[in-house]
This record gives sequence, C-alpha cells and structure tokens, in this order.
Amino acid sequence: MPALTENTQLGGQKLKRIVFSEVDVRRRVREMGSEISKSYDARDRLLVLGLLKGSFLFLADLVRAIELPLHVDFLVAASYGADKVSSGELRLLYAPETSLEGRAVIVVEDIVDSGHTLNRVLPLLRERGPESLEVCALLHKRIQPLDWEPRWVGFDAPHEFLVGYGLDYAEDFRHLPYIASL
Ligand code: IMP
Ligand code: MG
Repeated sequence: MPALTENTQLGGQKLKRIVFSEVDVRRRVREMGSEISKSYDARDRLLVLGLLKGSFLFLADLVRAIELPLHVDFLVAASYGADKVSSGELRLLYAPETSLEGRAVIVVEDIVDSGHTLNRVLPLLRERGPESLEVCALLHKRIQPLDWEPRWVGFDAPHEFLVGYGLDYAEDFRHLPYIASL
C-alpha cells in the first residue's frame, strides 16, 4: 500500500510531485555502482567518503552495488539551515580520521546545487594526498560550471527544491524512498 505508507511518512505535509521514483533511483544507483566497479581495481584501496547527512541512503545503496573491496567513511559539512537557499557558508563539523594517502577516494554527494560545498570540501581533501579524488553525485542541478565536476552523476535535477532519499527540508523527508519536489 504505497499511498498509505506515503501519507504516514509525510505526516500530512504535501509534496508537489514525485520526480524520481523508487524504481528509477534503484536502477540508476545499480548502474552507477557497476560503472564505478569498472573504473577501479582492488589495488586502488577505494575509500568511499559520504557527505552527511544527505548522502546516507545513496551511499548505503551505492556501496552495495560496487563489486570491489572498499572502505567507508563520512564527512560532515553544513551549508544549509532550515532554508531552501544556500548560505554560501560551509562548516566542516567532522573530518575523516581514515588516511587518504595514496588511496582512490570517491566523495559521495546527494545533490550539487551551487557547487559551493564541493568547491570548499575538495581542496581540503586534496591536501591529504589521495592518489585520486572523484565525486559521485546522485543529483546535479547544473546551475554553473564547477571547479570540480563530478565524474559520476545519477540524474540531472530540475531547478526545484527536492526532498527524499536522504534529501531534507528542515530535516523532514529524508526517509522517503523516492525523490520529490516540494
Ligand atoms: P551546494 O553547496 O549549493 O552545491 O549545495 C549542496 C548541498 O545543499 C547538498 O549537499 C544538499 O544538502 C543541499 N541542497 C541543495 N539543493 C537541495 C535540494 O533541492 N533539496 C535538498 N537539499 C539541497
Ligand atoms: Mg541538506
């Protein structure tokens, strides 16, 4: 009963429309996992670094679709409060203790909007001496050219505020299994 689940999950709040269904997301994440699997081998000592909180579901599904040995760690950067517009400010609340030295690192981001987050985080990670540093983003709004274009993008996103599958609005909606606009 998806409708009932949705209503229960939304607690009476309204969504505009479902942009990427649970099936769309599942299919695309599996494809991305197999693309990544072909791009590395076991010697790369892959480290998948999730940007919290938004990437938590995407990362969980993505690593299960990567057929290589890998490690997982997280990075916490806060750029938005209870606001739909980027403040342009970014705070690193938690940086990984795992060594990046000589490893193939993939930063997993839920959605690229202005690109401020990646532009600020990636130079900090680069300083830690990874062998390679790439970005895998589930969604990309393609607002402007970035210093660091993601190597893997799940979907080009409409210029709307999206929620679900990790994405929140003021912490609501992260647990929806699909991506919707508000
Ligand atoms: P950027 O720094 O402007 O590229 O924004 C990236 C971060 O802002 C993402 O990691 C999200 O947490 C958040 N964000 C950007 N657009 C959206 C959206 O449409 N819905 C929910 N969060 C978003
Ligand atoms: Mg967020």
